[in-house]
Formats: sequence, C-alpha cells, structure tokens
Amino acid sequence: MQTPSGHAIDATSASRLVVLASGGGSNLAALLAAHDDPAYGARVVGVVTDRPGAGALDLAHAAGVPSAVVAMKDFDDRAAWNEGVAQAVRVFRPDWVVLAGFMRVLAPQFVRRFEGRILNTHPALLPSFPGAHGVRDALAHGVRITGCTVHLVDDGVDTGPILAQAAVPVHDGDDEPTLHERIKSAERALLVETVGRIAREGLYVAGRHATIGG
Ligand code: GAR
Repeated sequence: MQTPSGHAIDATSASRLVVLASGGGSNLAALLAAHDDPAYGARVVGVVTDRPGAGALDLAHAAGVPSAVVAMKDFDDRAAWNEGVAQAVRVFRPDWVVLAGFMRVLAPQFVRRFEGRILNTHPALLPSFPGAHGVRDALAHGVRITGCTVHLVDDGVDTGPILAQAAVPVHDGDDEPTLHERIKSAERALLVETVGRIAREGLYVAGRHATIGG
C-alpha cells in the first residue's frame, strides 16, 4: 500500500493510537472497526478510561486491545490523577492520543507531555458550545444547525486548532438524546476519516491553522 506521499503502510508502521474514553465508546468502536485494514494506517494499541464501568472497556477487551482504568477516586488529588493518566498512556507508546468521549479535563502538564499529538472529538461546531454539554447547550440556544468537531487539544477547554467539522441539522421536536445520536453518527465517520488521514498524510500546524497532508 502506498500513501500519496509514497510511504509504504503496513501493520507494523501503522500509527499507534491510544484512545481515552469515559462512556459507551461508539467512537472507539468505529476506530476499532477501521484499524484492522492495513491501508487505514493507524491502530488502537491501548484504551484508557476514568470509569471502571465504561463500555469502552468491553469494546477493548472484545478487540483484544489492552486497557487501563485510572479512576479519580484512587488518587489523592487531581494532579496525582493526571500523572496517573499520563503514565497509563505512556505505557502504550502512542503516536496519537485520541479523546473520544473522555469527559474530564486534562491538566496542562498532560497536554505538554503529548504536545501536538492529542486529538479530541466534540459534539458541536466549535467554537460554539464547548464543554461537557455541547448538545444540550446547542439545543437550548435554538440553533438549527449544529454538528461535531475534531480538534487538537491545547490548554483550554475545546479551544485547540480545528482539524475537521461536520454539520448536522436540528429537527423540530429533537431532545438531547435524539440530537446526540444524529451527531454521533456523523461524528464516528468524521473521527475515523480524520485520524486515518492524519496517520497516513501527517499534520502541519501553523498557529490556529492545521492542515492534514502537504
Ligand atoms: C461523543 O459525542 C463525544 O463527542 C462526546 O461524548 C460522546 C461520546 O460518545 N464528548 C464530549 O462531550 C466531550 N466534551 P461515545 O462514548 O459513544 O464515543
């Protein structure tokens, strides 16, 4: 398999992805469904969660991917927990750290440790509706179009350079679950496509402007 830039891709040269997830893990499932194809160019090598009951753990187990639980309650304070997450991630030697429904904010020290290599998927068209309730906040505001964003993580909450976005309509009568499901369907496709392209083509960042491929 040749990339547009002429690099051969095989399973051993695939980019190593470590996925952080707190919930059901449908975005993780989409990455796992893509990663066996050597042409995809990236492979999930580890899953880290902050929630012992996260569905993401079952998905990792079923796919034969090692996982780690780093729960806040097992640490003295937030700084120690952040360090625990960083250590769990580092064990898997990631090329890219993918936050796919990870519902906690990581400290600047964590961001610095994996600087420029942390991606997040968010269920709104950033910079609108950042934070933990992107779907609810968009509905409450009455927007007719919302969507999802894949972006690089910086020190802020959902403020890093934007890599890709997809628009999703809000329907009359939508509530948070119906709208979130419509967004998640677009989000899975966007995340898989964006991560694969970054792995195969590289990522170039100049200030707020990120370009995939040359
Ligand atoms: C996704 O919609 C993701 O964008 C969102 O959680 C969902 C996780 O779904 N993340 C955030 O809201 C982060 N602020 P999943 O567990 O089915 O992948």
